Amino acid sequence: MIIYKAQDYKDMSRKAANILSAQVIMKPNCVLGLATGSSPLGTYKQLIEWYEKGDIDFSNVTSVNLDEYKGLDPNNKQSYRYFMNTNFFDHINIDKKKTFVPDGLEMDTEKATSKYNEIIRNTGGVDLQLLGLGHNGHIGFNEPGEQFEKETHCVDLAQTTIEANRRFFDSEDDVPKQAYTMGIKSIMQAKKIVLIVSGQDKAEILDKALNGPITPELPASILQLHNDVIVVADKAALSKWS
Ligand code: F6R
Repeated sequence: MIIYKAQDYKDMSRKAANILSAQVIMKPNCVLGLATGSSPLGTYKQLIEWYEKGDIDFSNVTSVNLDEYKGLDPNNKQSYRYFMNTNFFDHINIDKKKTFVPDGLEMDTEKATSKYNEIIRNTGGVDLQLLGLGHNGHIGFNEPGEQFEKETHCVDLAQTTIEANRRFFDSEDDVPKQAYTMGIKSIMQAKKIVLIVSGQDKAEILDKALNGPITPELPASILQLHNDVIVVADKAALSKWS
């Protein structure tokens, strides 16, 4: 495992974007595993900037995203498909037909998850998976206690997550109660993993994930077993590093 210490969020984003752009330059038809949330926003912004300068060409890249809310339309502003389009895909020359996010509108769990596993398999496998870290150690929507061996599956969102999301929706009834997520097994199959972490509030969980016991109670701890992980974290996130 390689750890890159960044000064702050901006520096973390630039370092992560450097790794992603190197991947695309080395293998123009690579498969990128992508994440949503606040952690990768700066990375996407930096990649867009370099794309606009003519430094990166995404035309042959395929992408697979980690997760999507079950029941949300891709045009819903809270959907992860909408997030990816507006924060990244709409601004680069990636072929949208080669960008994949679990199908939130497929209400048949078995169909949705097996279709997504097949999509991932058909890409030939993820070359580089970008990950953020949840405050409880989750990666994707794999919450503490989930089994390590799963591929894409459906998770019930924790009540705390539903309440936290409440502010983005008109009423609590509109807040999705379930999500589709790549499982730990799918994530661990990526050839390279880049974990980006920023902020003091993640310092303790980051230290536990990388130095503590490997347990499904802290899903990110499984990354200790992957043979090509790069952690890009800022000083604040590494402040409890032991
Ligand atoms: C997002 C995802 C989540 C986030 C994690 C951290 O697709 O899979 O695991 O990476 O919740 O979120 P932020 O970056 O918002 O702190």
